[in-house]
Amino acid sequence: MKLLVAGAAGFIGSNFARIRVTEHGDEVTILDKLTYAGRRENLSDLEDTPGFRFVHAGIEDAAAVADAIDGCDAVVNFAAETHVDRSIAEPDAFVQTHSVGTYVLLEAAREQQLRYVQVSTDEVYGSIEEGSFTEESPLAPSSPYSATKAGADLLVSGYHHTYGMESLIVRGSNNYGSHQYPEKLIPLMILNALHGDPLPVYGDGQQVRNWIHATDFGRAIGHVLDHGVPGEVYNAGGPDECANLEVVDRVIELTGASRDLITYVTDRPGHDRRYSLSSEKVRALGWEPRVFFAEGLAETVAWYRDNEAWWGPIRSGDYRAYYERQYGQALG
Ligand code: NAD
Ligand code: TYD
Repeated sequence: MKLLVAGAAGFIGSNFARIRVTEHGDEVTILDKLTYAGRRENLSDLEDTPGFRFVHAGIEDAAAVADAIDGCDAVVNFAAETHVDRSIAEPDAFVQTHSVGTYVLLEAAREQQLRYVQVSTDEVYGSIEEGSFTEESPLAPSSPYSATKAGADLLVSGYHHTYGMESLIVRGSNNYGSHQYPEKLIPLMILNALHGDPLPVYGDGQQVRNWIHATDFGRAIGHVLDHGVPGEVYNAGGPDECANLEVVDRVIELTGASRDLITYVTDRPGHDRRYSLSSEKVRALGWEPRVFFAEGLAETVAWYRDNEAWWGPIRSGDYRAYYERQYGQALG
């Protein structure tokens, strides 16, 4: 299959593209704006594979999208602004990419009559104290990130109902693994622990996330692409739930850092307490997660420890200014 994969220079999209090329023999055209989170080197091992093409543009750029989509059989959209804290500080790009960008990409896919998979998040359901969200749960997003992702989902559903477009949505829980930008909890804690920098825990650290390895999420998206029913939503949650403080403790254990590095900082405004997804529907398509958190986290810590060439340029660049703005203190 020839796939247009938008946003695949980022964390999950690059994992997905690798799986599709190596395990399915797909040809991929990557469309990516290369924001701070997008890095072409995340795809370096795929550049010489048959049919690989990279288009450097935003999904909101209709001319570039028309060029990139030419000759493709299906579209998978990962392109997004993905960090909740940045959405609180500066929501503009979230509205632009998730609303206008998704619209432009949908229009191009509709014109070509292509199957379209929108990659979404459990955060569109809001927070849940007990039990797990199903695909029937109402949308109740809390942040500019999740609200704009929910808006994009509704547009994708609208295109199915109105135009009969073959569009599908996959909602994932919190991902972790290699190549994740260190603004997110796990890579931030790993790199700070390896450097002896403070480990900033928001609020009481008892917020719970449902962790899924990025390769498991990538395979779930591939399953929905290959076997999903148009117009349907599929949740893909990981096998484990873990409170943030426990995640930090595990990182401390795996890196050998001192527990004294834990620093309680001001909580995130509107912070969701717990996410949890029921994934029965995608399991019925034949998918199941392969990586448990204990094993996946150990592998992830090892990857960051061994790949300074990947994170060194990030941690010594603009990220330092972001970090100082967000946490009110400089990295060591
Ligand atoms: P990421 O931040 O690592 O990468 C996002 C990618 O999108 C980058 O390559 C960036 O350059 C690109 N991009 C941003 N705006 C763009 C635009 N306007 N046009 C084209 N490209 C653009 O993100 P990620 O963690 O890999 O997330 C990918 C998708 O998965 C997102 O849609 C996100 O909402 C969803 N998701 C993420 C998680 C998670 O835990 N990270 C969980 C569930 C769902
Ligand atoms: P994050 O990785 O930003 O993902 P999301 O907000 O999409 O769940 O955060 C995961 C959890 O970790 C969330 O409850 C916020 C918390 N957190 C901290 O306690 N400290 C931090 O420095 C960061 C980045 C997150």
